Amino acid sequence: MKTKELYDQYMITGMVAGFEPIEVDSASAATMTGLDGKTYIDCYAGISVTNAGHNHPKIIAAAKAQMEKLVHCCTYVYYSPRAGELAKVLADITPGKLQKTFFGNGGAEAIEGALRLARQFTGKTEFIANMQSFHGRSNMTLSITGNRARKKNGGPFASGIAFTPAPYSYRCPFGSKTDEECAARTAEYLRDTIRYATSGDVAAYIAEPLMGEGGIISPHESYYKLVKKILEEEGILFIADEVQSGFGRTGKMFAIEHFGVEPEIMTMAKGIADGFPLSAFTVRADIADAFKPGDHLSTFGGNPISCAAAIANIDVLQNEGLVKNSEVRGNQIMTRLKKFMEKSSIVGEVRGRGLMIGIELVKDKKSKTPAVDAAKNVRKACRENGVLIGVGGSFANVLRIQPPLCITETQAAEVCDKLEKAITEAEKAV
Ligand SMILES: Cc1ncc(COP(=O)(O)O)c(C=O)c1O
Repeated sequence: MKTKELYDQYMITGMVAGFEPIEVDSASAATMTGLDGKTYIDCYAGISVTNAGHNHPKIIAAAKAQMEKLVHCCTYVYYSPRAGELAKVLADITPGKLQKTFFGNGGAEAIEGALRLARQFTGKTEFIANMQSFHGRSNMTLSITGNRARKKNGGPFASGIAFTPAPYSYRCPFGSKTDEECAARTAEYLRDTIRYATSGDVAAYIAEPLMGEGGIISPHESYYKLVKKILEEEGILFIADEVQSGFGRTGKMFAIEHFGVEPEIMTMAKGIADGFPLSAFTVRADIADAFKPGDHLSTFGGNPISCAAAIANIDVLQNEGLVKNSEVRGNQIMTRLKKFMEKSSIVGEVRGRGLMIGIELVKDKKSKTPAVDAAKNVRKACRENGVLIGVGGSFANVLRIQPPLCITETQAAEVCDKLEKAITEAEKAV
């Protein structure tokens, strides 16, 4: 039976709607190869996961070596050496006072734990999240998700959650003319959200430093300083959800570093282990100590193979220049596409940092009506021409370019050629 038939008959399918996926056989560095033998430049990296490149030999070797010794012991019942070592590495690479880590398996699990700890530490119960945000598919993470398409049919949701406008300057809810003004207006509005949309019992504010699923919303550099000041005045913790933006994706190890602020809690997953399942949240030591032994546990969390892979992955990101390459290749792609935007009638905005790039397609630049079909068509045409991209955003009209960070200059140029060709073609049908 073909894989598609097996999926259709035997899998509970959450497949991306309206998209014909390839059947993947193997992958290497920034390419994926289908069972039909065709090789593609991968600009989606399994949704921003294989940052060090697919099947990086050093990461595979570290995982294999660990597998020969120990697959599982339960990191929260016995001491697991790789988990301890990785926790120390995370304390070293995360900003400021972030020190102690809890390991889970996926992003949602890390965020669930972080929210629980924030409540336990503060003794408060409410949360504030951004409109358009995405934080996962468990009930609590869907509850703090602002992205309507992702929440659909997921309720009833948890109570005690308020949403505040995101710094989405292309469609700024305050009609701001510049990124900086939109950042200032949305940050200031957080005061009203706290005052008028909560009971004042707020444990934490959670935000993706660069919003991923919401359409690669990349705020002005002033934004999080303004937000953090308000949070500090109000005694509210800041949880930076780096699940998608972490591990070099934006040209720095963590996206929050672009903004010069320190969160009290950081959640991580996706790029942490180059494809091995693992997630983490890292917090200040005094906050961590609010969990008493036995308060929180995960059977598979901090799996030794995943932790060994993560240690090797972080070493590769740091020592093979991949964080820098993310910045350089990101600039290459964005400079080229911003030039193309001037000639194109449907490219409304090109935005992002490093290799977390969004291209928002609109029917015309004045009305900014989302060009949803055009985005679908561009994705399809790119795939037919050997380039895999993603689509996201609140209206499903944002092309997402998030390749492995090892993408070469030649590959990046080829991606731009093919994108421009596909967008030019899609423009005719709008
Ligand atoms: C910012 C962010 N947080 C959380 C999640 C949820 O992660 P997972 O699918 O591993 O549960 C995602 C997934 O896309 C994400 O982008």
